[in-house]
Amino acid sequence: MDRTASAPLSALTPQSPAQWQQAPLLFEHRLHTDPGFDKAAIADLIGRYPRQNYSIVHMGEQGANGKRVWREGEFGGLDGHRVLDAIERGRLWLNLRDGHDFDPSLRAAMMALFAEAGALAPPVSSYDHRMGILVSSPNAQVYYHADLPGQGLLQLHGRKRIYLYPPRPPFLSPEGLENIALSQLEVGLRYEPDFDRGAQVFDLEAGQGLFWPLNSPHRIENHDCLNISMTLEYWTQDIRRNHMINMANGILRRYFHHTPRNRRLSGPSFYAKAALQSLWRRSGRLESLRRAARPVDFRLDPEHPGRIVDLDGNLPA
Ligand SMILES: [Fe+2]
Repeated sequence: MDRTASAPLSALTPQSPAQWQQAPLLFEHRLHTDPGFDKAAIADLIGRYPRQNYSIVHMGEQGANGKRVWREGEFGGLDGHRVLDAIERGRLWLNLRDGHDFDPSLRAAMMALFAEAGALAPPVSSYDHRMGILVSSPNAQVYYHADLPGQGLLQLHGRKRIYLYPPRPPFLSPEGLENIALSQLEVGLRYEPDFDRGAQVFDLEAGQGLFWPLNSPHRIENHDCLNISMTLEYWTQDIRRNHMINMANGILRRYFHHTPRNRRLSGPSFYAKAALQSLWRRSGRLESLRRAARPVDFRLDPEHPGRIVDLDGNLPA
């Protein structure tokens, strides 16, 4: 495979997305050496980021009696450097969503990544590409969850451990996937520590990236350092159809108390379900479910970098 000297995925092996769907694919990239992705550039990006396009989440301690604490907040007027400082000292996870829509250089980087990946994998075309930047605290974790689109993760700074689980029971149930599709909240899956025996574990370094099979549940533990990563998201026709089935089966189960009997991606039952989920989405009946899922309830504390303040003014316990 010919590749120019500036190609970003310098050690991606020529496997197609169809193969990526069967097993995780570890690859190398060079974005971590690009000044457009150094810490100062990321701080500048944070400072310019539109409110509606970021989520900042506060998390509990690793293994804190298995109790989950996942709260959404806002910067509270801090500039990008102070936000980065707060993340470096706290237990925070910042997701800068849809960077390609906001910043032309992020769009260019994303397009270059998908162009190279696509050139390596001509049989399957992907579309609706999206990217984001994740900035997270030393030792922070992301709880066990699964994502609906195709996913990739590129490490830019720091080091993190990724546990990837097979996308099938007991790791992922049909109901679990349907609930994610309906609520758009990825973290409601049941997790048992025993699942770890079925996990593949990767320690991702700056300059490395990972694609994984569709819907594979995963959880992440940062090493003891600030982490900055790029997320990639893509769709294919099969992924889109799977999503419609998740939606329709979830609607049948939740609202009609009917246990779906198949996940066919073509034929009469597929088209009936495609119509059902489309009708349901347009009816607005899922909106309240989605709004209730993500209340914003804290802001960063300007006096104590790394700490947070409840939006009602009380310090969190
Ligand atoms: Fe994820």
